[in-house]
Amino acid sequence: MGISGKTRVCAIIGDPVEHSLSPVMHNAAFKELGLNLVYVAFTVTTRELKDAVLGARSLGLRGLNVTMPHKNAVMAFLDETDSTAQSIGAVNTVLNNNGRLIGYNTDGNGAMIALQENGVYPEEKKMLLLGAGGAAKAIAYQAAQDVEELVILNRTAEKAKKLAEVLRKEFDKKVKGGTLSSEVLEEELETTDILVNATAVGMHPDVDSSPVPSDLLRSDLCVMDIIYNPLDTKLLKDAKAAGAKVVSGIEMLIYQGAVAFEIWTNCPAPVEVMRKAALNELEKQGVHC
Ligand code: ATR
Repeated sequence: MGISGKTRVCAIIGDPVEHSLSPVMHNAAFKELGLNLVYVAFTVTTRELKDAVLGARSLGLRGLNVTMPHKNAVMAFLDETDSTAQSIGAVNTVLNNNGRLIGYNTDGNGAMIALQENGVYPEEKKMLLLGAGGAAKAIAYQAAQDVEELVILNRTAEKAKKLAEVLRKEFDKKVKGGTLSSEVLEEELETTDILVNATAVGMHPDVDSSPVPSDLLRSDLCVMDIIYNPLDTKLLKDAKAAGAKVVSGIEMLIYQGAVAFEIWTNCPAPVEVMRKAALNELEKQGVHC
């Protein structure tokens, strides 16, 4: 649909945002459904964040995605934050509901939907989550509600232990935290069904690194990496070689976007169109697909 006087705008704000896949993904989805919406990227520094959010409201933007480094700070400028985003302490999606800005976090939900859409069901399963940073926290929050048992391992063990303690109290589930080391990995992986990497290990340019020694991977594991540059991380290559089922990082990106799309439009997201657009853009950017 061409741009007209009735076109509404959605945008991603962050710094940097030039390489974001969200504009192509959402514009392809808007086009597919014939919606009079357009999605753009705005570089917003920390100093400009408040003005940008107030501006989004006064210009009548329909929605925002919020990325690094504003996922936490943006909360101070919203009218409301849903309980999941509040607990995670981060917002990645904002809906402008007639001038009322409402914050959501679709990262954790996106990750769990990505697993399910790829045939991996969390019920009665043990998940081993690597990392305790922003993305890991969002995933852990959702996973703690869905899985039977959750173990969080992080280089800085204290962060994992603290996160586990919060989740244990909130959901009354088996959740524990510990150190990301070969010894602990060996012990925990023995009883793990789903392994998720939410650390930065293996991300471009560190492409020859993996957070897990390859000899610990087995064919009955499902392994998801949330890194999508490269798409085929060392962890996923090793997992495939071991015969494990793998879910690539682009899946979480697509489904966190799909959930945001549905919040803004109230329409089911055309996931295949979004996947195709995101993969196409990655290829254009020189990421090996
Ligand atoms: P994001 O928003 O992508 O989650 P982040 O909040 O900076 O980014 O978190 C990065 C995660 O990767 C953290 O769990 C970090 O571990 P620490 O909490 O110990 O810093 C993890 N990480 C980064 N580099 C790592 C490395 N070389 N080895 C192990 N873990 C690493």
